[in-house]
Amino acid sequence: MYRIKKTLLFLIIIFFCCNNNKTVPQQVLGKKENLKYKYGAVSSADELATEIGMKILMDGGNAIDAAVGVGFALAVVYPQAGNLGGGGFFVIHLSDGRDVAIDFREMAPLNAHKNMYLDEYGNVIEDLSTIGCLASAVPGSVAGLLYALEKYGTMSRAEVMKYAIDLAENGFRIKPELANSLNNNLKDFKKFESTKKIFGRKFKGGEILVQKDLAYTLKKIRDEGKDGFYKGEIADKIVQEMKRGGGIISYEDLENYIVKERQVIKGTYRGYEIITMPPPSSGGICLIYLLNILENFNLSDNDLFSAENIHLMVEAMRRVFADRSEHLGDVDFYPVPVDVLISKDFARKMFSDFDKNKATPSSDISPVKINNEGENTTHYSVVDSYGNIVAVTTTINDIYGNKVIVDGAGFFLNNEMDDFSIKAGVPNIYGLLGNVANEIQPKKRPLSSMTPTIIFRDKKPFLVLGSPGGSKIITTVLNTIVRIIDFGLSLEEAIDLPRFHHQWFPDEIQIERELLDGKTQKRLLEMGHTFRQVHNFGRVDAIMFLNDGVLKAHSDMRGYGKAIVY
Ligand code: DON
Repeated sequence: MYRIKKTLLFLIIIFFCCNNNKTVPQQVLGKKENLKYKYGAVSSADELATEIGMKILMDGGNAIDAAVGVGFALAVVYPQAGNLGGGGFFVIHLSDGRDVAIDFREMAPLNAHKNMYLDEYGNVIEDLSTIGCLASAVPGSVAGLLYALEKYGTMSRAEVMKYAIDLAENGFRIKPELANSLNNNLKDFKKFESTKKIFGRKFKGGEILVQKDLAYTLKKIRDEGKDGFYKGEIADKIVQEMKRGGGIISYEDLENYIVKERQVIKGTYRGYEIITMPPPSSGGICLIYLLNILENFNLSDNDLFSAENIHLMVEAMRRVFADRSEHLGDVDFYPVPVDVLISKDFARKMFSDFDKNKATPSSDISPVKINNEGENTTHYSVVDSYGNIVAVTTTINDIYGNKVIVDGAGFFLNNEMDDFSIKAGVPNIYGLLGNVANEIQPKKRPLSSMTPTIIFRDKKPFLVLGSPGGSKIITTVLNTIVRIIDFGLSLEEAIDLPRFHHQWFPDEIQIERELLDGKTQKRLLEMGHTFRQVHNFGRVDAIMFLNDGVLKAHSDMRGYGKAIVY
């Protein structure tokens, strides 16, 4: 009898050990040999968030655990863009070889409609889609982070959220950059009572910011999971905020929010394999379309910043953004011709009118007819030692979203409705145009440019990257890839050197800093280009796999983030 009892007890212990530890399969599948790093790498827009990601890896978490911890941490320490009230995308390469795209983009509320931002004469009402409660779509971030954790992570909510909760509850020392950013937006913060309570004063670098309401919300999520945000007390607070501010997000909208797992977009560039985000992001399709065009030319025959290369890349960008405006939207609502747009033949055909000496005026370019068959965002990259790789881009759209904090819950809401085409031919805050494919419909997800991307060489991971920057996200990721693959630049150079961008309309090359010397400027002007200097290029956070198992990570010098390899 005693022996049977003992055996039973032994079996019960084994059962619990195996079941309690969902970390085993995920982590065991990875290979640790020949690695010159112990835990992995994290690169994000904020030092504290990056350190938290690294702590989670050192606590034994995998890259997904760490990414989720970074996501919650950014919601506390990087309120410009880190968020609970927004949405985003994960692109993941798992150690067992599977590729996954997780779509936690915001959804239009059930009461949203096509003309909701137009007056009785059909004119766009200023600021309605950008500031205040009506600008918000139903947030997806909490559902998305928890989905990733539950399905692909190995740790509990409490384990990955404890650092973020501590920073919200006990405060953190704010950087001068954050203080400046908050002070620059003070005028808008003062428009909303709930925001004024927390951010309605001047801040100084070095002071401690405590966010008790946000800590409360985070604890509800830790304790109750998705329901702690989309139902009950926090849902009440969101709906009450909507009522006060003329918004339309309802209990039903919150309860019905769903995360979607989608097939990654796949492409190749000079033999490298690329996985990236599908619609409702335009980022992946546009990136592959651009690379397919450029692959037909030898970029390295000319200098990186030569007039020839800038002209070539700008002409490609102009055409790709024209097609973006017409064909891209939420695939659940509109038949996006994905396969056509990412095919090499299509790219060749579309670019056959390219003149190497002359700019094509954007007004001469219309989106092609395709027969259908059928400062603010933030990016972070995480790699673990088991072979899991995560690229996440998340946003509340504009800096501090719609500028409204949900009273008592401590987080900013997004103004993602402005990413829809609120009227055909009217540009959004990034100057992007759109049409039927991206018009507003209840439950639809607004078109995004976010481009979390992972690149492989000879079947082995090579580069993981992404960026904020609105429409410039796509060209920022493109510029970085081309500089590394075609010009052999280091990760730092590829990211930090000045960039350029074209998006069809406005018909101008947007350039950064001292990109063009006098001779190049003259040549581009002769070709018929115009340019304007801008400073709002995205901040890339990337990790690169060098030979022999060495990792390199870099956080864009334009920001104040941090990259750690350990
Ligand atoms: O999803 C998008 O494309 C935009 N909401 C991204 C906004 C953004 O990158 C702002 N950052 N600077």
